[in-house]
Amino acid sequence: MKRRTFIFQTGTLITTAMLAQCNTSVGTKTPYTIRRPNPNDFKAPALKAIALGMNAPNPHNTQAWKFQLHSDTTFTLYIDESRLLPATDPTTRQIHIGCGCFLSVMQAGISVYGYTPQIHLLPEGEYLVDQTGKFPVAHVSLISTEPITDPLAEAILTRTTNRLAYQNYTLSLDEFKSILLKTKAKYSTIKLINDSTVADHLSWLYEGMVIESTTYKTYDESRIWFRENDYRIEQLRDGINLSGARTTGFKKWLAEKILKGLNEKDWHNSSAINQYLSSYEKKVKSSKAVVHLITDTNTQLNWIQAGMDYARFQLAASLHNIISTR
Ligand SMILES: Cc1cc2nc3c(=O)[nH]c(=O)nc-3n(C[C@H](O)[C@H](O)[C@H](O)COP(=O)(O)O)c2cc1C
Repeated sequence: MKRRTFIFQTGTLITTAMLAQCNTSVGTKTPYTIRRPNPNDFKAPALKAIALGMNAPNPHNTQAWKFQLHSDTTFTLYIDESRLLPATDPTTRQIHIGCGCFLSVMQAGISVYGYTPQIHLLPEGEYLVDQTGKFPVAHVSLISTEPITDPLAEAILTRTTNRLAYQNYTLSLDEFKSILLKTKAKYSTIKLINDSTVADHLSWLYEGMVIESTTYKTYDESRIWFRENDYRIEQLRDGINLSGARTTGFKKWLAEKILKGLNEKDWHNSSAINQYLSSYEKKVKSSKAVVHLITDTNTQLNWIQAGMDYARFQLAASLHNIISTR
């Protein structure tokens, strides 16, 4: 199971590791290899839907999702509490956003197969951090309909988080409006910041990364989830890696040599961190605009809902070839 899978079947737990074994190319229609389980490998619509949802963006690519399958068309989504980021995400806000992303990608993807998901968020209400994984995030029932393909489904297999620097790119207002129309955000206001305050926003993003990289426990969490070469990426199918930062060629080879074994001391070496931060700063500060998703309140429900809108926005942006996340 490559993008780690994870299902309980009427009480029995099936892990993400199982679904990940099924990742292959998607067949003759798609020229690229899919990174996640192939939906066509599963008969039950619920499993197809889960396989599609696993293509969603999620924090540190932990894929901290687990599922209880009730029937061929119904399942419950939980957070996999064994794959949390306690230092980086102590409130579990990020992984709840990741669950929202899963739900939206699943929803767009399964439309291609003629199903409309009815999604009941937090069916047993909100819960405490230490109850994560024990309470459901969403109950999903797939309703058979006429196949009305969500246009965003087209971007599911090609969308990736792109951390490259922008090269002479400016988002026009018309393009932003067109992305918004495709997004059809239901729960948040998506605000474009492209005025003179952008520089402040980019500085805050950079400062955030300075804090994350120079705080031992948060930066060490990135080490734990870092997959330092193609073998480890292929083997584990999770976590973050150099390709995610589009490090290629000689630089990638050199970095892999340095990172071999992911020695804790080398990882936290201050000159290595400074080098990383300087490259990060250049990339972040090449952005001409920033987008904020704003909800009225800041509850667990809002986190999931913001994730749902965010994933749709990212899919829509992918259709426009703008696929950067910070
Ligand atoms: C809630 C959330 C927070 C994220 N935070 C970061 C981040 O701080 N830095 C970053 O480079 N990527 C971040 N990402 C992107 C993930 O690392 C990325 O989605 C994941 O590695 C899977 O890769 P993919 O999006 O290319 O499928 C975040 C994604 C989500 C959903």
